[in-house]
Amino acid sequence: MVEITIPKPDDWHLHLRDGAMLEGVLPFSARHFARAIIMPNLVPPVVTSADAQAYRDRILAALPADLEFTPLMTLYLTEGTDPADVASAHASGLVTAVKLYPAGATTNSHSGVRDLSKVMPVLEKMAEIGMPLCIHGEVTDPSVDIFDREAVFIETVLDPLRARVPDLKITLEHVTTSQGVDYVMGADANLAASITTHHLMINRNAILAGGIRPHYYCLPVAKRESHRLALRKAATSGDARFFLGTDSAPHVDPLKECGCGCAGIFTAINTLSCLAHVFEEEGALDHLAAFASRNGPAWYGLPVNDETVTLVKRDQPVHWPDKIFTGDGPVTVFDPLLPIHWEVA
Ligand code: NCD
Ligand code: ZN
Repeated sequence: MVEITIPKPDDWHLHLRDGAMLEGVLPFSARHFARAIIMPNLVPPVVTSADAQAYRDRILAALPADLEFTPLMTLYLTEGTDPADVASAHASGLVTAVKLYPAGATTNSHSGVRDLSKVMPVLEKMAEIGMPLCIHGEVTDPSVDIFDREAVFIETVLDPLRARVPDLKITLEHVTTSQGVDYVMGADANLAASITTHHLMINRNAILAGGIRPHYYCLPVAKRESHRLALRKAATSGDARFFLGTDSAPHVDPLKECGCGCAGIFTAINTLSCLAHVFEEEGALDHLAAFASRNGPAWYGLPVNDETVTLVKRDQPVHWPDKIFTGDGPVTVFDPLLPIHWEVA
């Protein structure tokens, strides 16, 4: 029997939603992860420290009594965000990071930022106090091809922003391209990237070849195979600038399987099994702990978890439910499209 034990992982990009969906999905993350950076794109979004406090309380109230889990809260950056509110939320330990969504880039991002110069006072304050900015790195210009939106963002928005506020710590979230990987590797300081599980496992054919498959549609959208390979190389390299952010983003099936389906893939259940598979395929199981458990805490200035998780390789493929049933409706679980033998013990 092959097995591997790593410090309990954290998820550096997670959508928990609210209400019945929160209750339905939270136990899956809390079983395998000690902490997670919680995305603020609720309707309405988590904008102020008071919103973050209330959302954190709702998450902890939804947590089953037998599980331990620390939600690391984020604030949704708007053109009206108050730098003093952000700074005090960070100083008190309530909020870990601020999230920048370019307006219109993804699910519930319409209150995001249209004009970066309007949020400069917030970003300068964050640079001063060492608070990280998490970025959804895609331009929203309709004339830019959807598969190019990350690469264009890096060139036209991220690079100038880093030059303007060099002391700002930036997480380029859910990086999906070789351009993104190269850009992070070429940066001298203050830049890191999270990578999702699904972007290590699927390319855009999963969405479009042989029929249109809405459960593989997410944003940023999966790219061509060469990009997936670049992501796998970065994730399995052990490089401290790359770490896991699952971007597990549940939507009920009727909102995915329709004429204009939502973006988001639900991977909280089987992320660790899938990752062990990927790292084994790459001959890099010894770097799984760096990617899933060590690099993220180092970047966010937090201790590595004392608890551990053991993954066991079974002779037979491991199965998960195809769907989970929440109070809001069914949510389809990510199907990695190949047999996975790794199971969390
Ligand atoms: C996310 C969601 O559903 O909230 N969707 C997704 O495809 N990843 C939003 C996001 O992180 O872009
Ligand atoms: Zn996300």
